Amino acid sequence: MVTGTEPIEIFSVIRERRSVRNYTDQEVQDEALRAIIAAGIQAPTALGLQPWRFVVARDRDLMRRASDYCKPNLVEKIGEESRPGTEEFLAALKNPEFNIFYNAPVLVLVLGAREVVSSVLDCTLCAENMMLAAWALGIGSCWIGSATLIQQNPEILAALKVPDDHQVVAPLIFGYPAPLLPKPERREPRITWIP
Ligand SMILES: Cc1cc2nc3c(=O)[nH]c(=O)nc-3n(C[C@H](O)[C@H](O)[C@H](O)COP(=O)(O)O)c2cc1C
Repeated sequence: MVTGTEPIEIFSVIRERRSVRNYTDQEVQDEALRAIIAAGIQAPTALGLQPWRFVVARDRDLMRRASDYCKPNLVEKIGEESRPGTEEFLAALKNPEFNIFYNAPVLVLVLGAREVVSSVLDCTLCAENMMLAAWALGIGSCWIGSATLIQQNPEILAALKVPDDHQVVAPLIFGYPAPLLPKPERREPRITWIP
């Protein structure tokens, strides 16, 4: 409840959060990750079902393997779509050094129960809470949608202990930001006001 006694910083956190793709080597402590997940699970869910689970992975070899698996598949996928703005990402994907997780120290998978129809929406709200909470703690994040392709690889799913009855909704990386790029500009919102 808003009591009026505490400064409301949520608007600055929302405004300033940006996707971080360049990290320092500093580890993110378990305590911070627990706080981030605790913020995540405060998100609303349809029927209050809370259909999520979390995997916290710090295994850089495994992340590299997952990245190496996803990259050629993404090249194929993006090549097919060939939308403007994808050229730079496509070039990065073709670079053997490029890691889709940007060498972040930790990957958190937000998994949604397959049997719950709203789990993608619920887990997405959870993921945004997590990214905002991380920013408030000085921790950067990025949603790595490209990594959902690991769902086609049973070996990687097993290594990440993803249960069969859950899908990967939000692969999120976290870490302490190295120098940041400016936040991408937002377009003016189109609002229809009905008087
Ligand atoms: C569903 C989703 C998937 C995304 N996938 C990727 C990704 O695979 N790689 C990446 O670098 N950024 C990814 N992003 C981050 C977006 O590129 C980023 O949010 C957008 O450019 C706006 O920038 P900002 O988050 O700094 O405001 C993803 C974001 C969302 C919401």
